[in-house]
Amino acid sequence: MYKIVSIPGDGIGPEVVAGAVDVLRHLSKKHGFEIVIEEHPFGGASYDLHGSMLTDETLTACKECDAVLLGAVGGPKWENLPHEHKPEAALLKIRRELGLFANLRPAKVYDALIDASSLKADVVRGTDFIVFRELTGGIYFGEPRGYDEGKGWNTMVYEKYEVERIARLAFEAAQKRGSKKVMSIDKANVLEVSQFWRNEVHRVHRDFGDIELGDMYVDNAAMQIVRNPKQFDVIVTGNLFGDILSDIAGMITGSLGMLPSASIGRIHAMYEPIHGSAPDIAGKNIANPIATIASVAMMFEHSFCMPEMATQIHEAIEAALAQGMRTADIAAPGEKTVSTTEMTAAIIRHLGA
Ligand code: NAD
Ligand code: IPM
Ligand code: MN
Repeated sequence: MYKIVSIPGDGIGPEVVAGAVDVLRHLSKKHGFEIVIEEHPFGGASYDLHGSMLTDETLTACKECDAVLLGAVGGPKWENLPHEHKPEAALLKIRRELGLFANLRPAKVYDALIDASSLKADVVRGTDFIVFRELTGGIYFGEPRGYDEGKGWNTMVYEKYEVERIARLAFEAAQKRGSKKVMSIDKANVLEVSQFWRNEVHRVHRDFGDIELGDMYVDNAAMQIVRNPKQFDVIVTGNLFGDILSDIAGMITGSLGMLPSASIGRIHAMYEPIHGSAPDIAGKNIANPIATIASVAMMFEHSFCMPEMATQIHEAIEAALAQGMRTADIAAPGEKTVSTTEMTAAIIRHLGA
C-alpha cells in the first residue's frame, strides 16, 4: 500500500493534478495494488483558506507519506506579498524541509511531437537528456538576502557536501544510462562559487573512471541546448542554472507542458511538472496534463520500484500523441485540439482496462 499526498496548488495545478490522480487510480485498479491519495492545500490556495501558504498539517502530511505529487504554485494574486510570504517561498520551504536536494528533469522528445518544437525536426529528433538540478542550495537559499530602497542582494553559496551528493547522483545515472557522459554546467570564469563547484565535481569524478566529464559555461550551454540538444546525456548544475536550462529543454520537447520532474532526497520524494501555475490559461481546461502524468511515471520508478508502470505510462502518452491528441500548446496551427480532461482520458484509454 502506498500513501501519496497530492498538493495541487494554484492556477492550472488542480487541473493537471486531477489528470495525474486519475492515472494513478486507474493503474491501481488495473493492477490490484492499493494506493491512498490524500489531498492537502498548498500555496496561494492554502493562504486564501488558512492564511498560510504551507500549514503544519500539509508539511507533516508530506513528511509522512511515500510520495508527494505537486501541481504548481503562484500567481498574480499573491505576487506582491513580501518574499518570505510568497507561494514560491513555501515551495522552497517544502523542498528544503523534505531534503529534496536533487531535481531530475528528463527532456525526451516524443517522435509524434517533432513538429511541435520551434526548432527544426533534424535538430530535435532523438533528443534524450536529463538535467540533475541541485535543489536545496545555491542562490535560492544563500544568506544574506534582501532589498531596501537602495539595493537588492542575494548570496550564491555551495558547500562541499551539497556539490558532492548531486554530482555523485549524476555520475551514477550516467553509468546506468549507458552513454556515460556528464556535462557539468557553471560560470567558473566569473564566479568563485562556480570554480568551487567545478573543483568538487572533478574531485567526485575520480570515483567514476568510466564516465567522461565535461565542463561548460552556462551561457554557452543555453546556446548549445538549442543548437544541438543531442550532444547532451546527463547535465549536472546548480539550482538557478538548472531552473533556466530546464525550461529551455522543455521547449525542445515541444512545450513546457511536457516536462516532468522528480525531486528526491535521502528519505522523501516529490514529483512535480517543471512548469508553473500558468495563470494565463488557468481554469479553462486547456492545460497540457502530460508533464504531471509523466511525473507520476517517475514516481513509480523512483519511489515505488515499479518501472513497468512507468513504461506503461510512457507508452500510453506516446499512443495518445500518435493518435493525434493535442492540447493547444503542442498543436500545429489549425490542428484540432483537445482539452486537459480529454487528453487525460485518451492516455487512460491507452493504458488499457
Ligand atoms: P509558467 O510555467 O506558469 O507558464 C509559462 C508559459 O507556459 C505560459 O504561457 C503558460 O500558459 C505555458 N504553460 C505552462 N505550463 C503549461 C501546460 N501544462 N500546458 C500548456 N501551457 C503551459 O511560468 P510563469 O508564467 O513564468 O509563472 C506563472 C506562475 O507560476 C508564477 O507565479 C511562478 O512563480 C509560478 N511557477 C511555479 C512553479 C512551480 O510551482 N513548480 C514553476 C514555475 C513557475
Ligand atoms: C520551478 C519553479 C520554481 C523554481 C519557483 C516557482 C520557486 O520555477 O520549479 O522550476 O525556481 O524552482
Ligand atoms: Mn522553473
